[in-house]
Amino acid sequence: MSSYKETHKRSILEREGFWAAEAKRIHWHKPFTRVLDYSRPPFAKWFVGGETNLCHNAVDRHLKERGDQKALVWISTEVEKTETYTYKQLHAEVNRVAAMMQSLGLERGDRVIIYMPNMPEAVFAILACARLGAIHSVVFGGFAAASLAARIDDAKPKLMITADGGSRMGKVIPYKPLVDESIRLAEHPPAKVLIFNRGLDLNMPLVSGRDVDWKDLYSKTAKEPVSCVWLESSEPSYILYTSGTTGKPKGVQRDVGGHAVAMAASMPHIYCAGAGETIFTTSDIGWAVGHSYIIYAPLIAGMTTILYEGVPMRPDAGVWWKIVQDHKVNVMFSAPTAIRVLKKFDPAFLKQYDLASLKHLFLAGEPLDEPTHAWIAEGLGKPVIDHYWQTETGWPVLSAMHGIEKTAIKYGSPSFPVYGYDLKLLRESDASEAGADEKAVVAIEPPLPPGSMSTIWGDDERFVKTYFSTFSKKMVYSTFDWGIRDKDGYYFILGRTDDVINVAGHRLGTREIEEAVNMHPNIAECAVVGVADQLKGQLPLAFAVLKDVAKKTTSQEVMDTVDKQLGAIGRPKAVHFVTLLPKTRSGKTLRRSIAALAEGRDPGDLTTIEDPGALQQIKDCLGVK
Ligand code: PRX
Repeated sequence: MSSYKETHKRSILEREGFWAAEAKRIHWHKPFTRVLDYSRPPFAKWFVGGETNLCHNAVDRHLKERGDQKALVWISTEVEKTETYTYKQLHAEVNRVAAMMQSLGLERGDRVIIYMPNMPEAVFAILACARLGAIHSVVFGGFAAASLAARIDDAKPKLMITADGGSRMGKVIPYKPLVDESIRLAEHPPAKVLIFNRGLDLNMPLVSGRDVDWKDLYSKTAKEPVSCVWLESSEPSYILYTSGTTGKPKGVQRDVGGHAVAMAASMPHIYCAGAGETIFTTSDIGWAVGHSYIIYAPLIAGMTTILYEGVPMRPDAGVWWKIVQDHKVNVMFSAPTAIRVLKKFDPAFLKQYDLASLKHLFLAGEPLDEPTHAWIAEGLGKPVIDHYWQTETGWPVLSAMHGIEKTAIKYGSPSFPVYGYDLKLLRESDASEAGADEKAVVAIEPPLPPGSMSTIWGDDERFVKTYFSTFSKKMVYSTFDWGIRDKDGYYFILGRTDDVINVAGHRLGTREIEEAVNMHPNIAECAVVGVADQLKGQLPLAFAVLKDVAKKTTSQEVMDTVDKQLGAIGRPKAVHFVTLLPKTRSGKTLRRSIAALAEGRDPGDLTTIEDPGALQQIKDCLGVK
């Protein structure tokens, strides 16, 4: 076994050789002629000339050896159902859905927006897109109609796929009316909407000529297999929208070959798992974690993947550990928020079930505080690996790599840079490298490794401007996170450098929330900041200036506006009304100072403030002296 340090070094110094070897983990219909084309920095093209297909690698390739092995197990504690699909059955379903899509006119390169809860049909649809070379864009079910419309207008899908609804804590959440509303708002609506009626008893009128009933089309579609479309490695496989500094979400574009290789390599090296083993990733399919570690990586590796619809404490706080026992789960992947939720319950729940099969619990998506890390690791008696990555990277950037070397875990740290990432901690002032224990910007020296985003959908210029222009002296990828490395080489993530906040592991731009608040007709302007929350990590807090104070707008009205525009995940914890926002003389809102006050910290340098009275108003709202 080589050390992680040696492996990392090799992956940077002998980049092409390293990845050429990893590329053998997947099936290539046509071999690549070059490992990397980096002739147009910062755009990296991996495995040039190679042809492959993600669905073939995730499904067809396993039929011979593991056709009767479970591929997908869906467990819903919301609708009290479990469904199991072997690789053979998954193959049959995906083929049928691909044929259905073809009958709706879908072709290679067309976009498909999938707006569905965690249900097997969503997985079939995603893989069917991959099979046909259509580009999927899964939108998290928590987003409201206006957010969905913005994504429709950016992706311009030919088809949308949805369900009658989802369910949370036993409460039905309608999806179809939201889709209807989003299509009404959109300028580039899809020609067809395919709807899976789960029978949630929702009144669901179909729009004639546009809406197609899934089950009806399914029964009319032949069972004949649909050939995989072989794609050049750099062609887009999917778009996943994520929040940034501006209100407009960015369509993170992923390729085909690089993505497949990165997924395949991460399973043995990072997650210490492989064919025949079972993984339980508790995420939603609408997030990057769901894409990579519910669907693509486990299936490409020939594993059994568990898709869960439900919450961690219903019917009781032992439900996940019962799943681990009953399905002999080997690897589990969740988010710190979920563990903080479980921490409120009796730790006896952790001991109630037989967890012998479980090797590791992985956590990502937001900072994992030391006490929570210690509580879960000691409660389970298993290694709990905090690892750090982003929608943009698609797979871990910082992690322990126990498949390579069993390094010691330090609570609160996502350990070390992962192979393929030339990670740097750069001083904000001059892009020089920071020393041990010095807070700096976490940056990646390009080219980004296989599987990381290739560009922003339809906007190469924005890709370069957003991610590679933080430092004037150096073209490096900025993660927009602060980090620090201790003297032993362990990294710690200290929060974002931009206006992105993390609510229960959900990434949101404060500008997006501000835009939603501003949709209220009586709001003149507002500032939204993220404040620390014990359970959810962070929560948005809004300060708004009313156009007409006499109208007596309530904070509830403003919250309802956010629910409607963005979805309940963006709802501020409170809305405070002020007559003026603290701004610099050049007109920039002092969000960092507001956030600091709200968290009881020093607001920092205020010499540039236009009117100190504005800050006093914020203090008065918060009851701060
Ligand atoms: O700020 C970092 C935080 O979540 C951001 C990425 O969120 P998202 O695009 O939703 O991707 C999640 C994929 C796991 C990062 O920029 N973050 C993620 N993991 C960690 C983290 N912060 C601290 N520790 C982590 N382990």
